Amino acid sequence: MIELAFSILASDFAHLADEIAAAERGGGTIVHVDVMDGHFVPNITFGPPVVKAIRPITKLPLDCHLMIENPDDYIQAFAEAGADMICVHQEVCRHLHRTLQLIEQHGVKPAVVINPATPVETLIEVLPMLHHVLVMSVNPGFGGQKFLPLALDKIAHLAELREEMGLNFRIEVDGGVAHDTVARVVEAGADMLVAGSAIFSSGDLARTEGNAREFLALARAAAVAQD
Ligand code: DX5
Ligand code: ZN
Repeated sequence: MIELAFSILASDFAHLADEIAAAERGGGTIVHVDVMDGHFVPNITFGPPVVKAIRPITKLPLDCHLMIENPDDYIQAFAEAGADMICVHQEVCRHLHRTLQLIEQHGVKPAVVINPATPVETLIEVLPMLHHVLVMSVNPGFGGQKFLPLALDKIAHLAELREEMGLNFRIEVDGGVAHDTVARVVEAGADMLVAGSAIFSSGDLARTEGNAREFLALARAAAVAQD
């Protein structure tokens, strides 16, 4: 099933609840929360208190993308705040298997994200543990960047591995996924589509709802064309 994980990074933070509701009305099914620490990535965004504030205002699952150093130190806090999925960067986890176990122990679905320069092969041993793999299609740190086509081969490779290994993890893609790029990522095999600037529109709620609806229509058409 194709899902839109809308990234609230691009939303109007002063009206976060309304923004989330609008993206949900447009068909968005996952709230993607971009957590940045100013160390792993140059930008700083938000942390567990914001996740906690969002938790009661939507029934949608919260997908926390941790762009932070030492994620082990914060997993409990994000789990207690209400995260449904926690995605850690391969590049910061010296003991990735242990980090994934820790996420699982907190009752949260574990996921790993790989930067554009990180090969899919670095995940082979942990694929059976994962709810999803997130393939970055920009270098993390900012919304509104241009889609990097190198992500397409990585998505296709993951889809092949999933088949060969008899697994059922999902494939998520993040960065520059918009109305003009979404068909290609779906054709490659992604089914959790993160989009920020393609969905939110400076607080214009009707437009946000319409953007989400149109985005999903394009994604689903690409999925059907493939069958
Ligand atoms: C980038 C974040 C993305 C970002 C996507 O570091 O991980 O989730 O918000 O934004 P767009 O869709 O604008 O590329
Ligand atoms: Zn993200």
